[in-house]
Amino acid sequence: MQPKPAVTARLSPGTPRHLARLARALRRGELVAVPTETVYGLAANALDARACRKIFAAKGRPARDPLIVHIRDLRELALVAQPNAAARLLAKKFWPGPLTLVLPKTSDCNVAELATAGLDTIAIRVPAHRVALDILRAFGGPVVAPSANLSGHVSPTTAAHVQSDLAGRIDLIVDGGPVAVGVESTIVGCFDEAVLLRPGGLPRGDIERVLGRKLVQPPGDADSDSGRPLAPGMLASHYAPRTLVRLDACNVEPGEALLAFGPVAVSGVDAATSVLNLSARGDLDEAAANLFGYLRALDVHGAHTIAVMPVPHHGLGEAINDRLRRAAARRD
Ligand code: TXA
Ligand code: MG
Repeated sequence: MQPKPAVTARLSPGTPRHLARLARALRRGELVAVPTETVYGLAANALDARACRKIFAAKGRPARDPLIVHIRDLRELALVAQPNAAARLLAKKFWPGPLTLVLPKTSDCNVAELATAGLDTIAIRVPAHRVALDILRAFGGPVVAPSANLSGHVSPTTAAHVQSDLAGRIDLIVDGGPVAVGVESTIVGCFDEAVLLRPGGLPRGDIERVLGRKLVQPPGDADSDSGRPLAPGMLASHYAPRTLVRLDACNVEPGEALLAFGPVAVSGVDAATSVLNLSARGDLDEAAANLFGYLRALDVHGAHTIAVMPVPHHGLGEAINDRLRRAAARRD
């Protein structure tokens, strides 16, 4: 069967006619790419197993990698998950926002098993984006939304990135312009301890200040009881552009492109070098917003390697360095 061609719908936020159309599409089990504040997500009805299966197929995502469930507000949380005191505190403080909480599921949680990859935990967030929230409200239920890219590729920060990865594989793309944050949400597991499963758009320091204690690092790659990864999507070579990536570059070799950071120049740059600067004034928020778009842009320049200048590790720098490390990891 021929794949359905993707249609790009331009949503004027708050237009009831568009929102009703999108809500109907989700109810019919269709896949709709929507902007969030972090990256574009590929949304589907979280209660519909068939729609969830289509997400894994469209992205080429392994079935063992669970999806994040997006809800409208804190009130919806208790229907699907059992938050402890730390989770309630974080949700109250940071939702809507770029924070995902991994929590025990409720016994009668009606989210499709496939969406949580058979785990007894569930990842949840409330996105801080007017279009995403309008769609969630119009739809009236929980929505799964992984990043709207092919599995293993760089997350999309514009509708054009979604189009380039998923056209023909999904039903609709809602164009809300470039996203504000640019890296995916921070994922925190709230159990006996609060565990940082993925650094992301909410800096670790903000979370630790509210909790009044340090976030714990996951113990290695795998949960020792089940042998499964704690955040199954965090495989070493996730977020990979096709071009090789060289980190901590202090110079540029012939044939390399440069992903720069800050006002300082490096040696080896000539008229033939493709250069993009994540933030010429050294601002980490600006760098995060530019990161994935610039990696995509340099990926099509024909350089054999993207040399990346060092990025400080504080604030959003931790998430930026995490994604860069994964982009540079060896692939099979
Ligand atoms: O900012 C974001 O979080 C974006 C936007 C669209 O909301 N979404 C996103 O989804 O980044 P995705 O599917 O690309 O990444 C979800 C991550 C994966 O690493 C997955 O393994 C992890 O969340 N995850 C989901 N459920 C989990 C669970 N129960 N336990 C541990 N990790 C989980
Ligand atoms: Mg992703």
